[in-house]
Amino acid sequence: MVFEDDGKIKGHIAYSPMKDENGNIIGLALGPVGVLPAYQGEKIGSQLITEANKKAYDKGYDTIFVLCDPKYYTRFGFKLAKSMNWATKLDPAGEHFMVITKKPAPVNKQNVEYCSAFERGMQRVPGKAE
Ligand SMILES: CC(C)(COP(=O)(O)OP(=O)(O)OC[C@H]1O[C@@H](n2cnc3c(N)ncnc32)[C@H](O)[C@@H]1OP(=O)(O)O)[C@@H](O)C(=O)NCCC(=O)NCCS
Repeated sequence: MVFEDDGKIKGHIAYSPMKDENGNIIGLALGPVGVLPAYQGEKIGSQLITEANKKAYDKGYDTIFVLCDPKYYTRFGFKLAKSMNWATKLDPAGEHFMVITKKPAPVNKQNVEYCSAFERGMQRVPGKAE
């Protein structure tokens, strides 16, 4: 989804499928979301996240994960996924992996898998500074 204003695309948001260990799609992974630097701080990101999450719910996806800064995403209702027994190898400490869901938490810890393109995008280049 893109945020377009006056014929100009100022921001975008994307989702990819999130799978359980058996390969079943159990929800969506939000990201990346980005707003052109000149327009950041104008609530474009907030609108994209709110509207796109709503569309995802309307399409029947009742669980959305995101791997980012909790300071930003908790304002949209996301909470740390580890508090609901979900985990990803991309964030072993579980300090940035969040979820918003209408489902009850799994009883036991459940690992979820991002799609391969997302995982590749998250890999850091060895030897490069962060
Ligand atoms: C993160 C991003 C999408 C937010 O979009 P935006 O339109 O600038 O954000 P909004 O105007 O909706 O919200 C602004 C608020 O978010 C906060 N915020 C923005 N990025 C943040 C971050 N990474 N961590 C914590 N808070 C953040 C701002 O401080 C501001 O807070 P305030 O409402 O208390 O003043 C945008 O800044 C961006 O494209 N950043 C670079 C790419 C990026 O980091 N993407 C996120 C990857 S998960």
